[in-house]
Amino acid sequence: MLEGKTVVLGITGSIAAYKAAGLASKLTQAGAGVEVVMTEAATRFITPLTLRSITGRPVVTGMWQPASEFNIEHVSLAEAADVVAIAPATANVIAKLASGIADDILTCTVLATRAPVIVAPAMNDNMYRNPVTQENLARLRARGFVIIEPGYGRLASGKTGIGRLAELGKIIGAIRQVLQRKSDLAGKRMVVTAGGTREPIDPVRFIGNRSSGKMGYALAEVARERGAKVTLVTTSSLPPPAEVEVVTVETALQMKRAVTRVAKNTDALIMAAAVADYRPEKVARAKIKKKSAKLTLGLVATLDILAEIKGGFIKVGFAAESEDVIANARKKLETKGLDLIVANDITIKDSGFGADSNKVTIIDKNGKVEDLPLMSKREVADRVLDRVVGILVKR
Ligand code: CTP
Repeated sequence: MLEGKTVVLGITGSIAAYKAAGLASKLTQAGAGVEVVMTEAATRFITPLTLRSITGRPVVTGMWQPASEFNIEHVSLAEAADVVAIAPATANVIAKLASGIADDILTCTVLATRAPVIVAPAMNDNMYRNPVTQENLARLRARGFVIIEPGYGRLASGKTGIGRLAELGKIIGAIRQVLQRKSDLAGKRMVVTAGGTREPIDPVRFIGNRSSGKMGYALAEVARERGAKVTLVTTSSLPPPAEVEVVTVETALQMKRAVTRVAKNTDALIMAAAVADYRPEKVARAKIKKKSAKLTLGLVATLDILAEIKGGFIKVGFAAESEDVIANARKKLETKGLDLIVANDITIKDSGFGADSNKVTIIDKNGKVEDLPLMSKREVADRVLDRVVGILVKR
């Protein structure tokens, strides 16, 4: 996996900077081309010469140093990277990355790169637990950075706490996984739906639901990053993900027609949309005026897109439940003939509709239940797509 890959290793000014030498050595031995970028503070803890000797490559330490081929244009390093790993990452660099500050060669590289970025924090426990650091990490996570939690143990201060750089094996494992995911959907087609449908009552009103579309957008974005050709059928007005074909619809019927059209050659259909089960029987042509104290709307059932669509592609459904989550999701998996269902309990805080994170359980048609902790919707997307890839390789 690492053979021939370019790993940009960012080292920042933490005591743990010396451990980056071990990391650079392991990555080099595994066949990766390791391009080390050090912040000024990092060079106070470990010399560039050490890293240069280990990697056999010039080490970049500043924007203006003349020695390296990457200095002429700092973006060339960003473009050359298959993955960027910052280990150790200080609270300061994490804060800069979270707010888009690019005042040195490392932060410039990260801002300019389209490669996946892994961040392994290492710092004093109070700094790590400080809400501002946690907020910054959450922001990075939501944007697709992979954060490798620090470990618990003896810190430089002599105290015991959280903040030690994660084990090197864990960091290398994350680098391998990111590289593996990077192109595992190359050549595959994917249709993803997102958002809640809107069923008109009259020209101004509709029956809707609380779906924001964030989960579907995360899936579309991540599937694209992993190499798939993605069509997103959406009711949401979130900014469209880069390089994804977007089809905007409003009602369940429009969504059904769009999905049927675009799913013809797809490898997988992931229905993250919250589709209305009922729509008003009649849509009033003019705005309904306030007349009596009571108004009854007649509703009729919509068609079930997932249950009715035919094709040899992988079918993935979502089940937002407020009770008997697993049992209800299983029933949907069976009745709709799905390969996977992603169940979420909408009563959990920071999970489900509108949130940036989600707490889900993935159930497959063989009965395997994978219960995941609360994580960003992008991370959930990765986990769901890992399962889709797993089915695709067996086919
Ligand atoms: N779904 C669909 N078409 C519909 C309703 C739902 O394709 N008309 C899809 C959703 O996109 C989701 C899955 O089916 O992937 C489950 O949706 P959900 O609304 O939870 O299931 P329902 O079958 O509508 O069950 P209920 O509303 O009774 O929980």
